[in-house]
Amino acid sequence: MTVVGIVPAGGSGERLGADRPKAFVVCAGKPMVEWSVEALSSVCSRVVVAVPPGHEEPPDRVSGSASRSGSVRNALAAAPEATVVVVHDAARPLVTAELVRECLEALDGVDGVIAASPASDTIHVASPDLLVADSPDRSTLWAAQTPQVFQADILRRALAGGDSATDEAALVAAVGGTVRLIEGPSDNIKVTTPTDLRLAEAILRDRC
Ligand code: CTP
Ligand code: MG
Repeated sequence: MTVVGIVPAGGSGERLGADRPKAFVVCAGKPMVEWSVEALSSVCSRVVVAVPPGHEEPPDRVSGSASRSGSVRNALAAAPEATVVVVHDAARPLVTAELVRECLEALDGVDGVIAASPASDTIHVASPDLLVADSPDRSTLWAAQTPQVFQADILRRALAGGDSATDEAALVAAVGGTVRLIEGPSDNIKVTTPTDLRLAEAILRDRC
């Protein structure tokens, strides 16, 4: 088994609004992406990062793409040796090697395993004119996190399908793959806004 880490870091970070792509914004003393690369490196044989244009450093920092799944596809194309893939957002610097290991251990008899958190808010489906159209039972709803780990072959097949999904679990399930959810820690947040960045920094500093 050859486990390769893939870190999509090719986004611009529009909602964070920093002076550089989000993955390179300093978070608790180092560029945000480095926290994820470090956590994955202790578990994976290699970590390939999909970066924004101008930040490429072959062989392990490759061009991202206009979409997140395109960025994952490009990084995976650079790792043909992978038999198992760990996908983890550069925007989630609070990941731990232990969480990556937990996901890999659960990859037994399924095509994929993702960390996720049970929805704490009630989630409504809105109509185009912002009326409540449907209110799914909250107990069935989970918010996807990363890491998301997959058998490499089915992930390659799933990524050939399209670019609209916001995570790989949806793509793998769409090609008939079985994807198991495990509960990820509530502090494994995604840095999206300036408030998230302050929170992530506070938690990381608290850990040191
Ligand atoms: N990502 C990527 N390639 C893209 C878009 C996103 O590799 N074309 C990565 C981001 O770098 C991030 C992860 O996917 O690590 C999750 O995306 P998100 O939090 O939405 O980051 P951004 O797209 O950069 O932020 P925004 O949507 O606010 O612009
Ligand atoms: Mg985005």
